[in-house]
Amino acid sequence: MSVLIRGGRIITAADDYVGDVYVEDERVTLVGESLDVEADRVIDADGKYVLPGCVDPHTHLDMPFGGTVTIDDVQSGQTAAAFGGTTCHVDFVIQPPGSSFAAALEEWQEKASGKQVIDMGYHMAVTDLREGGSLEELARLPEQGVTSYKLFMAYKGALMVDDETLFRTMEVAAETGALVMVHAENGDAIDVLVKQALAAGNTAPHFHALTRPPELEGEATNRAIQLARVAGAPLYVVHVSCREAVEPIAKAREQGWDVWGETCTQYLFVDYTFLERPNFEGAKYVYTPPPRALENQEVLWHAVRSDILSVISTDHCAFLWDGQKSRGKDDFSKIPNGGPGLEDRLHMIHEFGVRTGRFSLNRMVELLSTNPAKLFGLYPRKGTIAPGSDADIVVFDPEKRHLISAATQHSKVDYNLYEGTEVTGSPEIVLLRGTVLVENGELVAEPGIGQFVERAAFGQELLPAAAR
Ligand code: URP
Ligand code: ZN
Ligand code: ZN
Repeated sequence: MSVLIRGGRIITAADDYVGDVYVEDERVTLVGESLDVEADRVIDADGKYVLPGCVDPHTHLDMPFGGTVTIDDVQSGQTAAAFGGTTCHVDFVIQPPGSSFAAALEEWQEKASGKQVIDMGYHMAVTDLREGGSLEELARLPEQGVTSYKLFMAYKGALMVDDETLFRTMEVAAETGALVMVHAENGDAIDVLVKQALAAGNTAPHFHALTRPPELEGEATNRAIQLARVAGAPLYVVHVSCREAVEPIAKAREQGWDVWGETCTQYLFVDYTFLERPNFEGAKYVYTPPPRALENQEVLWHAVRSDILSVISTDHCAFLWDGQKSRGKDDFSKIPNGGPGLEDRLHMIHEFGVRTGRFSLNRMVELLSTNPAKLFGLYPRKGTIAPGSDADIVVFDPEKRHLISAATQHSKVDYNLYEGTEVTGSPEIVLLRGTVLVENGELVAEPGIGQFVERAAFGQELLPAAAR
């Protein structure tokens, strides 16, 4: 099967030009001006952007958390992703305490089997090095294509690890070429504040934010950076939400240390006041770190523009407002933490990042596709359009109007963080390894088409077909 995408504006992190893309089987084989080739299918991309499929390095599908399970499984979450122009993501395997990493990985792969709509990889969330997985087992994960370890410095009594576990994992990563990811908040101090708030009768959703102040994100971010330096491991700080966390990352990067950070779409648009919405509406915005005071949004826009932060992910972790979030009606600490967004990232960042002039189309591609692919061992198979790369391509109509709404989204969740936002610019056709996934507003490929991708070690390239 061959596809010719003709006359589009091809935009990668580095380039922006009008040309043709020729796809044979699963990969791009030619890129050029007025290509003289026959193809089984010709897509006229005149007036459209031709973008590499977006890569989301931070999602939680079919994940048990907060006493329930995320509402989107692999099929519904990845369908939502495809409609939003995301063709590859990296999800978290959570090691159940007491379980080996191998058993946890197998369980997660089983959950995905036959349901995959886009390509995916896994990070391993380390929760227990004593009774469960061993350091030796952890060290073997990169050979299986799981080349990043995640540690939660918060969620005491659930996923949180102590500094010993964090540091030992960093030492293993320094040896094996894995990237260490941290959820950076001081979980011990938060636990004290939550207990004090509840004892004082403060049970409403906005106390989620008041018990997780930004200083505690800043403290943990700085601690993780310093520990990673001592261990000699590269570090990636997930879901950075505030100035207090941006500053230590900026300082580390100025020093040339191996530190990277991401923010998520929601931190650029949702602020603390959303949590105060009446009639339990605020629970929709209970995710962690919490929505921050409004002034942090400009700090984050500056950070993504100036490469202090390198990625915008979604941290898609969707729970129904009616039926799951409502577990915490009388106690904010029982509201499952997480928000949706897999389908909305490209729409929102194109509208409010590019169309408002905050950054270029190239930078958008870099933040949503190329940088996550590079940092997580997927590049250049993913994250660009070049001969040899997987033909994961978004034909994006920059003039198409799109209304973001829970009523039309593909996630199973019953609300949308950006409800009613109108944007100009939307994916028209989405291809995964040369097969059309989304066209005319329909999913036209069968679940099962997506594949597990064995990622390369940190700093290594995932070689395209010819070299494999
Ligand atoms: O609230 C959130 N972010 N839920 C997902 C788990 C995590 O902390 O990333
Ligand atoms: Zn987190
Ligand atoms: Zn997360």
